[in-house]
Amino acid sequence: MPLPDSPILQAIHARRSIRHFLAAPVSRDLILTALEAASWAPSGLNNQPWRFALIWDKPTQEALAGLTRYSHILNSAAVLIAVFLDKEHSYDYTKDCQAVGACLQNLLLALHSLDLGAVWIGEILKNKPRVLEILELPQHLELMAIVAVGLPASQSQKSHRLPLAELILLEK
Ligand SMILES: Cc1cc2nc3c(=O)[nH]c(=O)nc-3n(C[C@H](O)[C@H](O)[C@H](O)COP(=O)(O)O)c2cc1C
Repeated sequence: MPLPDSPILQAIHARRSIRHFLAAPVSRDLILTALEAASWAPSGLNNQPWRFALIWDKPTQEALAGLTRYSHILNSAAVLIAVFLDKEHSYDYTKDCQAVGACLQNLLLALHSLDLGAVWIGEILKNKPRVLEILELPQHLELMAIVAVGLPASQSQKSHRLPLAELILLEK
């Protein structure tokens, strides 16, 4: 079925996780633009429980990279965006996690639309406390993901999805 001529549908389908970056800086203004879009995600009671930390400096990037087997991705990124759930602004843990997930998807789509490459790194969550220590952030912030961002080194990534027929459980 051909995609309708919708920029949002086109972006949703074309976005891929990018794990190889050029050794080039990215504009802080573009990152702030993407974060602004991320912050327009829906949240329960509009409580907006997401918080961000931007890590541009190499020593801190390297310290974080040491906490995941995806260290090569973190070390080659231009900027790392750590995304947290602020438990002081939480009203329902499940719904707040869902809201941060929506925020992360907005962030990935916005970065893609700005021709930046990004990948959601969840594997580092095994070391949540260490991330807080390295970033010197308080305990009420719970790490949800680190998004590694840079200029894409290649645009040829492939992915796949299950056919819709396997996903629709019933239709009455
Ligand atoms: C919750 C979550 C955790 C993820 N963790 C990692 C990770 O630690 N390392 C990684 O390389 N990709 C990670 N990814 C990216 C997925 O591997 C990727 O989205 C999936 O393979 C589909 O590929 P696509 O994003 O190109 O469509 C994660 C994605 C999500 C949503």
